[in-house]
Amino acid sequence: MSKQVQARRLEGIDKNPWVEFSQLANENEAVNLGQGFPDFAPPEFSTEAFRQAVTRDIMLNQYTRGYGHPPLVKVLAQFFGKLLKQDIDPLKDVLVTVGAYGALFYAFQALVDEGDEVILIEPYFDCYEPMTKMAGGRPVFVSLKPPPSDDGKMISSDDWKLDPDELASKFTPRTKAIVINSPNNPLGKVFSKEELELIANLCKKHDVLCFSDEVYQWLVYDEKKHISIASLPGMWERTLTIGSAGKTFSVTGWKVGWVLGPNYLMKHLRTVHQNSLYHCPTQTQEAVSSSFSRELRLFGDPDSYFVQLPKDVQKRRDHMMNSLQTIGMRPIVPQGTYFLMADISSFKKKMPNLPGSEGEAYDSRFIKWMIKNKGLVAIPVSAFCSSEQKEHFENYIRFCFMKNDSTLKAMDDKLQQWKKELEA
Ligand SMILES: Cc1ncc(COP(=O)(O)O)c(C=O)c1O
Repeated sequence: MSKQVQARRLEGIDKNPWVEFSQLANENEAVNLGQGFPDFAPPEFSTEAFRQAVTRDIMLNQYTRGYGHPPLVKVLAQFFGKLLKQDIDPLKDVLVTVGAYGALFYAFQALVDEGDEVILIEPYFDCYEPMTKMAGGRPVFVSLKPPPSDDGKMISSDDWKLDPDELASKFTPRTKAIVINSPNNPLGKVFSKEELELIANLCKKHDVLCFSDEVYQWLVYDEKKHISIASLPGMWERTLTIGSAGKTFSVTGWKVGWVLGPNYLMKHLRTVHQNSLYHCPTQTQEAVSSSFSRELRLFGDPDSYFVQLPKDVQKRRDHMMNSLQTIGMRPIVPQGTYFLMADISSFKKKMPNLPGSEGEAYDSRFIKWMIKNKGLVAIPVSAFCSSEQKEHFENYIRFCFMKNDSTLKAMDDKLQQWKKELEA
């Protein structure tokens, strides 16, 4: 074809770290600590609900309501109404999507216009940048920064902060939205009430929307508390709160997500939905609605999955942090999510010239080397920032600790071998 094949909005967004590193992991039969999914069983009540959804009622094999299966939107409205202290209309303020990815895509497509600026906080979940661009928007970046002095002590994700003046300077008359992700992937930072208030006040002052990606809201450690920005005064009116059943019930393959917000915003997301996918699978929505109904009954109870899960995962986090330190990596203690970022500066000093393509960031070269030589897969943190900031993030790699005991044991075996080689 002599005409340009691809639409211009796809230019410059064709690279994707998941495709590249998942393929490398498979080719090398390495222990995959890269992509974020659990390799252990989801809760029995969720898989049983799915079994029931497949066998109980033949009509669950058919389309359901386009904007969300009625029992699911109802329980989401009840559950999140309680959390956000908001009267949520299940039919107008809730939309079910294909994963949180779907919710994010609808938010950008429905509300970001040609030339609008969207503030992204680095490091960020990588799809925010291409989704802004595909909608015709312009990403504007602001970085979370580690503490200035490094006295060799353990650093936590809490120690990484936004500079309030720098953040304020990013809001302009063209700013349409800011994307926040708490707990944050890849850093694991859980934004404090003060940090959320700072962002909320800027949104209100400059009349800006907030896309709040809260997919890891139940995965919070060290007695930290997750706060939804929509629960702060004056923020429900300008916030879209995005969640994922995949992360909530450890069923990432089900791809059920949702977005909650005021009807004057949601009606535009419904327009995108009705003109693109229109329906999401019925049976998984039914299973997610049963799972949420159980959690609503057990709200705050020790038997609640949302109470038990973080306790279990925190042990896996601590296990991985201890193991990585044995070879000289310095993990940043994450207060939330499935992930931790590990500082690889000491390796960069010892082996600065790893092979790679021209301009390839150090973390990416390091991981390719690590996969081939040490049999471990992680994801480069430079994939989670703008090209201008790559040099500030290329000393970190991201590991996923949402893994079963045998995967963690396989990791330990590889790290022990690595340690022996370092000592030889
Ligand atoms: C921060 C964040 N948002 C959204 C998603 C997408 O979630 P889903 O699998 O429900 O589409 C992910 C998945 O890794 C994520 O880490």
